[in-house]
Amino acid sequence: MGTVTRGTTNPNRLRRMDRWIAATHGTELRRAADPVAVDLGYGAAPWTAVELLHRLRTVAPRAHVVGVEIEPARVAAALPYERAGLVFRHGGFEIPIPQRPLLIRAANVLRQYAEGEVEAVWHRLCGRLAPADPATGARGGLLVEGTCDEIGRRHVWVALGPEGPRTVTFATRLGSLDRPSDLAERLPKALIHRNVPGEPVHAFLRDFDRAWAAAAPYASYGARQRWIRAVRDLTADWPVADGPVRWRQGEVTVRWEALAPRG
Ligand SMILES: C[S@@+](CC[C@H](N)C(=O)[O-])C[C@H]1O[C@@H](n2cnc3c(N)ncnc32)[C@H](O)[C@@H]1O
Repeated sequence: MGTVTRGTTNPNRLRRMDRWIAATHGTELRRAADPVAVDLGYGAAPWTAVELLHRLRTVAPRAHVVGVEIEPARVAAALPYERAGLVFRHGGFEIPIPQRPLLIRAANVLRQYAEGEVEAVWHRLCGRLAPADPATGARGGLLVEGTCDEIGRRHVWVALGPEGPRTVTFATRLGSLDRPSDLAERLPKALIHRNVPGEPVHAFLRDFDRAWAAAAPYASYGARQRWIRAVRDLTADWPVADGPVRWRQGEVTVRWEALAPRG
């Protein structure tokens, strides 16, 4: 289910997303009976699926990955890369595996669809995630859907649970940043057309640029210190959901409700 799109990918492109997933979702993956993760739309070569397996296994040694691609030739090209814990399947948004996955990662997939299609795709994919279990406190599976540049210096992704959207994460190589709104060009499909006055994501990036400008004196200690200072200022007005350990990585995560499109 879905449409074949360009297969552009690169080795190590999704490292920031992989590291964030390992850090924030590692506990759920570790304690699941069958910790299966899907790399949906891995592209013309299966590098991102291979790397996802390695990075997840650092926090959840039993994790395994299914690469899913809608373009059959890309599945055939990936088969030689199968190994313990990694298989490739032809398919799309239906997610052609019997299990309910603990993770579905869709990077640079929905950007090539129409904005109006996003909600239905999210709904379908969230419906395939492992459910939450109030008896054990398990939060269930995670859908991570977002966009980055060709070499992974700038990323923005939305994280969704079985219940729907939770957070938006901005992640960047700090040395490459002029101002936080440089990340606007990598907003996921649900937000990229909403970076206009009157929309919350526009107000957020405007405030982030102001906080970054006000934190200019910290630049003499390095871009990392400047970013941390700017994010700390942002917490006065925006529901930032993470803390300095993640900010040091050039990340900030904000509650979805604060950035969700109006109307
Ligand atoms: C731009 S590539 C992204 C590759 C990789 N995820 C990355 O970020 O480097 C997008 C890939 O998603 C695939 N794709 C698009 N819609 C899909 C769907 N519904 N199900 C599975 N794959 C899909 C396309 O065929 C294409 O190979």
